[in-house]
Amino acid sequence: TKALTPSDIRAMKGGEPIVTLTAYTTPMAQMMDEHVDVVLVGDSVGMVLHGLPDTLGVTMDMMCLHGAAVRRGLTHPMLVIDMPFGSYEESPEMAFRNAARIMRETGADAVKLEGGVSMAETIRFLTSRSIPVMAHIGLTPQAINTLGGYKVQGRGEDRDRIMADAKAVEEAGAFSVVLEKTPEGLSDEITEVLSIPTIGIGASAGCDGQVLVVDDMLGLFTAFKPKFVKRFGTLGVDGAEAIKAYAAEVRARSFPAPEHVFADEVPEK
Ligand code: KIV
Ligand code: NA
Repeated sequence: TKALTPSDIRAMKGGEPIVTLTAYTTPMAQMMDEHVDVVLVGDSVGMVLHGLPDTLGVTMDMMCLHGAAVRRGLTHPMLVIDMPFGSYEESPEMAFRNAARIMRETGADAVKLEGGVSMAETIRFLTSRSIPVMAHIGLTPQAINTLGGYKVQGRGEDRDRIMADAKAVEEAGAFSVVLEKTPEGLSDEITEVLSIPTIGIGASAGCDGQVLVVDDMLGLFTAFKPKFVKRFGTLGVDGAEAIKAYAAEVRARSFPAPEHVFADEVPEK
């Protein structure tokens, strides 16, 4: 199967749901290569792999290194890399410089950045200069300090703001948009109104696609579990059990066993 492109993903609007997962390493990318449509190297890497308290401390170097590692593990899905906090907000020119570096150093197909109306000009600047952009609206974790917590976005009076963000990113040329923690009815309405695919996380089963953080859905990241996460596996528990068994065997001198060690002389044939 040939590799999917942003145009392919855009063309999946209204069709079979677009399966998206995050990945941060080559082996994790290989594990999902034949099963998903889109792989996102999210800035969630900071919290999931580096133990940071939020995504604000994630750097361009981190995104480029993890992005290049993921690229080496993929043959089929489209690859998107998150632009980290502080790498694009200041000006469209700065955003282009950093997005171009991400594309160059990782071989990604597109970048993702957070923001709606406020980032429309930047999205237009990038897309008109050959960099496909996935937008991200609703709960935008890089804005945690101004949003005042990881709250649902777009309830009641706030509905119009999120709808305006959705229309603005489409109009600016984004090829798809992540809806994070927006209420179900609003998510469905945005999906209906837009001509580009919506990728939901804590949004609605009616979105054109879904995304989860892979370590969350594998049960590997267990520091906390948002309501929208479903654990499809128990890798965290399985890993701890395996480590416990290793420790016990080392202490009992039952590991390494004869098959794991080397004879002093090469055996005769
Ligand atoms: O950083 C991330 O993992 C994301 C997805 C959850 C959409 O932005
Ligand atoms: Na992100």
